[in-house]
Amino acid sequence: MQTRTLGTTGPQTSVLGLGCMGMSALYGDTDRAESIATLHAALEAGVTLLDTGDFYGMGHNELLIGEALRGVPAATREKALISVKFGALRTVEGAFSGYDGRPEAVKNFAAYSLQRLGTDHIDIYRIARLDPAVPIEETVGAIAELVEAGHVRHIGLSEVGADSLRRAAAVAPISDLQIEYSLISRGIEDEILPTARELGIGITAYGVLARGLISGHWQRGRTLAANDFRGMSPRFQGENLDHNLDLVDALREIAEQKGVSVAQTSIAWVLSRGEDIVPLIGARRRDRLAEALGAMEITLDADDLAAIERAVPAGAAAGDRYPAEQMARLDSER
Ligand SMILES: NC(=O)c1ccc[n+]([C@@H]2O[C@H](COP(=O)([O-])OP(=O)(O)OC[C@H]3O[C@@H](n4cnc5c(N)ncnc54)[C@H](OP(=O)(O)O)[C@@H]3O)[C@@H](O)[C@H]2O)c1
Repeated sequence: MQTRTLGTTGPQTSVLGLGCMGMSALYGDTDRAESIATLHAALEAGVTLLDTGDFYGMGHNELLIGEALRGVPAATREKALISVKFGALRTVEGAFSGYDGRPEAVKNFAAYSLQRLGTDHIDIYRIARLDPAVPIEETVGAIAELVEAGHVRHIGLSEVGADSLRRAAAVAPISDLQIEYSLISRGIEDEILPTARELGIGITAYGVLARGLISGHWQRGRTLAANDFRGMSPRFQGENLDHNLDLVDALREIAEQKGVSVAQTSIAWVLSRGEDIVPLIGARRRDRLAEALGAMEITLDADDLAAIERAVPAGAAAGDRYPAEQMARLDSER
C-alpha cells in the first residue's frame, strides 16, 4: 500500500482512506454485514485511515467501526487510524439543528465517541462545521487539551476557509483539512488549498466521486430513499443532473481509452493533484472498494490530464454541492 503523510505534523496514512458515512446514513438503506465485510476488506488491503462522524447514524457508524476493528488481528488494528468528526446537533426526528463547538461540549462528544469506538484514543478529531457562536480558537484549544491528556492524537478541521485555517493553526498543530474536492468541486483551489499548503496542513478529500455522481455508475431515474441526501442535492436534480451526466459521458470516453473505469479516473485525478492530498473513498460494498483501490495503479500523464480538463473544465458542474441552507453553514464557501 502506498502512503502519504497528512501535513507536516500529521500521521502517515494509506494513500486512500475509507469514508464510512454511507454505511450508516445519508445514502439510503444500509447493509450491516456488507459494511463490516467492506471495512475488513479495506483493512486487509492495507487501508489504514477510517473516517467517521459521531452523528453518522447517531453513533451507529462508530459502533460499526468498533465492531469491525474488534474482528481483525491485533497488528492490523494497531495500524488503523480513526478520524472522527463531532459537533453536529440532531433532533429526535434526525434533522440537523446546528453545531456545538464549546470546549465542554467538545470533551463530552469525545467521551461518548471513545466509548462507542471501544478505543482509548481518537487518531484525528475535528468539528464537522464551524460553530458560528464559538471562536475556532476555543474549539481547537479544547481538542489540544484532549491531545495533551492522550485521548486524541491529532487535530483536524472540516469545511473551513482560509482565515479559519490560519486562526486554528496559530493555536495548535493541524494535521489536515477535510473538505470536498473532485473534478466537479474545485472551489478549494483558489485560496484554501494554497493556504493549507503554506501552513503545512494536509487535505483529506471527500466527495471525490461527487457522492456517486461522477462514478460512472449513476443512472438517470434511480429511485432514492427519503433519507438519501442525494434526493436533496442540487446536482442530482432535473436539468442539473442531465448536464452533469453529460460531463460523465465525456469522462467515460477518456476512461475507456485508458482501459479503466470512470470512478478510477475521478479518484486518480484527485490523487494527481498533490502528495498532500488523501482521498476518502465512500465505498460501502466490497466490489466498489476494489474498483476504487484500482485507482492507485493508474498514472495520468500530461495528455490524460489535458483531455480530462477539456472534458470536465473547472466550474463545469451544474448545481451547488449542498442545498442552500447547508451551503450557508459552510465557512469554506464564505
Ligand atoms: N467533512 C465533511 O463535511 C464530509 C461530508 C461528506 C462526507 N465526508 C466523509 O467522506 C467520505 C466519502 O464521502 P462520500 O461518500 O460523499 O464520497 P464519494 O466517494 O464521492 O461517494 C461515495 C458513493 O459513490 C458511489 N460509488 C460508486 N462507485 C463507487 C466506487 N467505486 N467506490 C466508492 N463509491 C462508489 C456509492 O454510492 P452507492 O453505494 O449509492 O452506489 C458511494 O456511496 C464519507 O464516507 C465521510 O466519511 C465528510
